[in-house]
Amino acid sequence: MSEKIHIEKGSVQETLIIPLYGRKLCAEVFPKLYTDESAARICERLDYDFSDLDAQAKSTFWRFGALEAAMRQLDMQWEINDYLAIRPDAAVVNMGCGLDQTGRACDNGTCLIYNVDMPDIIAAREELTPAGERERNIACNLNDYSWMDEIDGSCGAVFFAAGVFHYFTEAQARNLAQELASRFPGSRLVFDTVGKLGKRLMRATFKNFGMENYDECLYVENPEALRGWVPSATVSWRGYMLGYYAMDDPAVTGLHRVLAKLCDNVVKMRIMRFDFAFA
Ligand SMILES: C[S@@+](CC[C@H](N)C(=O)[O-])C[C@H]1O[C@@H](n2cnc3c(N)ncnc32)[C@H](O)[C@@H]1O
Repeated sequence: MSEKIHIEKGSVQETLIIPLYGRKLCAEVFPKLYTDESAARICERLDYDFSDLDAQAKSTFWRFGALEAAMRQLDMQWEINDYLAIRPDAAVVNMGCGLDQTGRACDNGTCLIYNVDMPDIIAAREELTPAGERERNIACNLNDYSWMDEIDGSCGAVFFAAGVFHYFTEAQARNLAQELASRFPGSRLVFDTVGKLGKRLMRATFKNFGMENYDECLYVENPEALRGWVPSATVSWRGYMLGYYAMDDPAVTGLHRVLAKLCDNVVKMRIMRFDFAFA
C-alpha cells in the first residue's frame, strides 16, 4: 500500500475531514439514500486519527451529522446536473473541494471539471485521486482571484462550494460572487449557508480547527438580503436537508426527520443559488 497522506491538524484545511467521514458513514448507514465509493477509500489512505469519529459513529446525532454531509453533496449535484442539462459542455468548479468527488459524480462525458483548494489539500488530492481527463486541480486561495484565469467558462460554468462560505467574511463572499458575475456571465454559483443560531453552533468547529476569525464570518438570517450582492442575478434558495430530496431510506428515523426540519427552519441551513445574467 502506498504511503499515507498527512492532514495537518488545527487548520481550516482539517475541516474537510468531517464531511469526508460523514459521507463514508452515510454510504454505510443509509445506502439507499447515498452511495459514495471514494470516501471510504480516501479515509483509509489518510494519516489522520479517526478514533474519536469512529467512537461516535453509532450515535443518532453523529449519524444525523453524516446525513447532513451527504444531503449537501446531493443538493450540490442536483444543481450541477440541472445546469449541465442546459449547458452540457460547461465548467464544473468545486471551490474549496477538499477531497470530495462531486465533479466526477456529475461527469456527463463533456463537461470540464475543476477543483480548487489550498496547496496542501491539492497536493493530497493529486496523490489520492490524480486529475483525470477533462479535470484540473488548482492550488490557490479562493480569495486570490488568479485561479479564475485557469477556468475555461466559454461554454458556461457552474461554481459550487460545499461547507466553505462559513469561513469567509461577508465581504469576501460578496466580492467573490461579484467577481464571478463579472467574469462569467450566464454562470451559476451555489453554496450553503447557516443562520445566526447555526453560526453559534459552529463556534466549537472554529475553535477546534484553530480558526480565529469566528466573529467576522458569514451567516445568513434573511436570504433576501443576498439579492443586493449582485442586483442583476436571479437569487433563489432551498432548505439544505429537505429542499431537494425527501431523505427516503429505511434507516432514516423519525428523530432524524425532526432534526432535518429544525435544521432547515430554525438553524436556517440553506442552499443559496445565484444565476448570473448574460452580459
Ligand atoms: C469543510 S471543508 C469542505 C470540503 C469539501 N467541499 C467537502 O464537502 O468535503 C472546507 C474546505 O474549504 C477549503 N477552504 C477554506 N477556505 C479556503 C480558501 N480561502 N481558499 C481555498 N480553499 C479554502 C478548506 O481547505 C477545506 O478543504
